[in-house]
Amino acid sequence: MALSTQPYKGARDFYPEDKRKQKYMFDVIRHTVEKFGYEEYDAPILESLDLYLAKTGEEIVNEQTYAFTDRGDRQVVIRPEMTPSVSRMVAAKRQELAYPVRWYSIPNLWRYERPQRGRLREHWQLNVDVFGIPGVEAEHEIILVADNILQAFHAKRSMYTIKLSSRRFTDHILKEYIGLDDVQAYSMSKLIDRMHKLERAEFKVQADAICAQHQRDAGAVTRLLEVLDAGRFSALPAQLQTHPSILSLQNMIDILSDAGITNVEFDPTLMRGFDYYTDIIFEIFDTHPDNNRSMLGGGRYDGLVGLFGVEPVPTVGFGFGDVTLANFLDLHGLLPKLHTETDAYVILIGDVFGSAQKPLADLRKAGLNLAVDVTGRKIGAQFQTAEKKGIDYVLIIGENEIESGQFTLKNLHTGVEEKHGIERLVSIIKDYRHPGSDDD
Ligand code: HAM
Repeated sequence: MALSTQPYKGARDFYPEDKRKQKYMFDVIRHTVEKFGYEEYDAPILESLDLYLAKTGEEIVNEQTYAFTDRGDRQVVIRPEMTPSVSRMVAAKRQELAYPVRWYSIPNLWRYERPQRGRLREHWQLNVDVFGIPGVEAEHEIILVADNILQAFHAKRSMYTIKLSSRRFTDHILKEYIGLDDVQAYSMSKLIDRMHKLERAEFKVQADAICAQHQRDAGAVTRLLEVLDAGRFSALPAQLQTHPSILSLQNMIDILSDAGITNVEFDPTLMRGFDYYTDIIFEIFDTHPDNNRSMLGGGRYDGLVGLFGVEPVPTVGFGFGDVTLANFLDLHGLLPKLHTETDAYVILIGDVFGSAQKPLADLRKAGLNLAVDVTGRKIGAQFQTAEKKGIDYVLIIGENEIESGQFTLKNLHTGVEEKHGIERLVSIIKDYRHPGSDDD
């Protein structure tokens, strides 16, 4: 039986046109985050399982990791997220680093999930994290970076919503307001995390079951739902409206609005799956009905670096996946027409392979990307190859051209054919690529 040409389930091959799209997205992202002073880092794709046992959360660790025992009997995991790795790196140089530390990376991550639209078994995830700022200036900056990325792709504010909540607030609601113990509160937070995937009646049954474990307060779930359904601060029960976590969220929304970011909402049902978040959490949702899911998520996690036995560092960050971003850009028509990087396809006429090398080297030195057809096929077939590859120009090099230093250039879109020296050729091609600009 022939071998399958399909990639592993839930994983992607990147053909050049796919890689070109990814390169465009990552270029925009890198350019934007670097404007805020973030520096790129990376870490190994394999990490020790221990790294995730502490705070990543049971769903990812128990159900979604690619874990195995290596030949030296170590329990290792293909990284499902970057946050523990970056925290480990900061902890390792806790004393040497210059704070605030602003770092970003775009790792490929693996999670054993059920593949579906927007969700695969591998994805690339931009991680942007700032270490060393205890105040809301950190959340403000991090959300501003996320917003700036979407704006750099020319997104309109109506295309996405930034949802905010707070672990401090949820903790207060679950423990003090409705009186759950630590174990119940943890189970309830996981249930709230799945709330939008459950029928309301089913949610209530499961929430009642959690409350009934140690106490029988029939009103607890009703009071919890009152909070979860609130949607805005003013709809919360009066005594909760002045809780410090709510005042801090309100302040956050006000300062974001001052920065022109008005598509921000308080959403008390927002949980985020990870156990390490300690305060404000946020997600950005695509508003398009066909991609109505979270594209980006993050929050404050002040305790993770400290788990490595060093003094804790206050930290805020987010992860932004390439799959949901690509869906977002596609659905909202925000992807520009992307083009091969090759400027011209070179057709050699006659026995000039050796003598063409010098002008080819000169053209490449002058900034052109050239692919040379060395097949010796009929010229028509070589032209067809250039068209199929989506290359704009064909450059013809024969003995006459080499002797005269004048080369024939044909634009495959306009059909215009002209003969010029190297300098002029380069400027025509560059100008066609970037009209009105000198850069290459
Ligand atoms: P997360 O919410 O698991 O957070 O992932 C962040 C984003 O990565 C999601 O909003 C989504 O765009 C993308 N993503 C996650 N899983 C998949 C998947 N299976 N397929 C496609 N895309 C996916 C974290 O991972 C946190 N560590 C982020 C963070 C960084 N928090 C603080 N700093």
